[in-house]
Amino acid sequence: MPPNWDLRARAYDALEASDLRRGPSKARLFSRIRGRTLFLGIGTGIDIRHFPPGADVTGIDLSQEMIRRAKQRCAAYPGSLKLLRMDAMHLGFRDDCFDTVVTSCTLCSVSNPAHVLAELYRVLRPGGIFLFLEHVMSTDPLLGLALNWMTLSTRRSGTAMNRDTLSAVKAVGFEIENIESVFLDIILSARTLKPGSAIPGGRSDASPQND
Ligand SMILES: C[S@@+](CC[C@H](N)C(=O)[O-])C[C@H]1O[C@@H](n2cnc3c(N)ncnc32)[C@H](O)[C@@H]1O
Repeated sequence: MPPNWDLRARAYDALEASDLRRGPSKARLFSRIRGRTLFLGIGTGIDIRHFPPGADVTGIDLSQEMIRRAKQRCAAYPGSLKLLRMDAMHLGFRDDCFDTVVTSCTLCSVSNPAHVLAELYRVLRPGGIFLFLEHVMSTDPLLGLALNWMTLSTRRSGTAMNRDTLSAVKAVGFEIENIESVFLDIILSARTLKPGSAIPGGRSDASPQND
């Protein structure tokens, strides 16, 4: 049965929204946001407080209930923030239309990360930045075993703790510029690039295609 994100949204803030450890790392990562930005997995909006002021962000999420809660946090953001319900498996945006794409604790949650990464790559312009802060598989065999074991139960609510996200990111074509540990080697924050340089005046409109 697919995870029910609408249901998880109801208890998300009480159970999972503490970002005492991850907050400063998120703020540092998000300070790299430039230009038109797609934020995948806005959730209940706890990441919004770490966005740099004045950014131009389109936040998407599969769950209507997550979006509804995020909207309550949207008003306080001193910048442009639009929230849309959208499945990352089929992004409704033209190719090359964002300058920055960001994910936070979401590549561990989508059903097919390789397909989602290919979609993120498609909508990011050449030379654009892809930033992510994600749970990933450990290179330590014992820790890896523990993450596999934990994933047996967390998968049911939608989260896999044991994905080789770095390999998946590279396989789709992103170039890794910088990686920082947020917690051991199991929560990483990374800045990556889509190779190429922007075609002057060549960037597409970032409005959803069915607007
Ligand atoms: C663990 S939450 C992370 C939310 C937020 N970034 C945070 O750190 O609290 C993962 C989010 O991914 C969303 N999600 C899962 N699959 C998705 C998909 N295919 N397309 C868009 N969002 C998806 C879920 O609804 C959920 O809000």
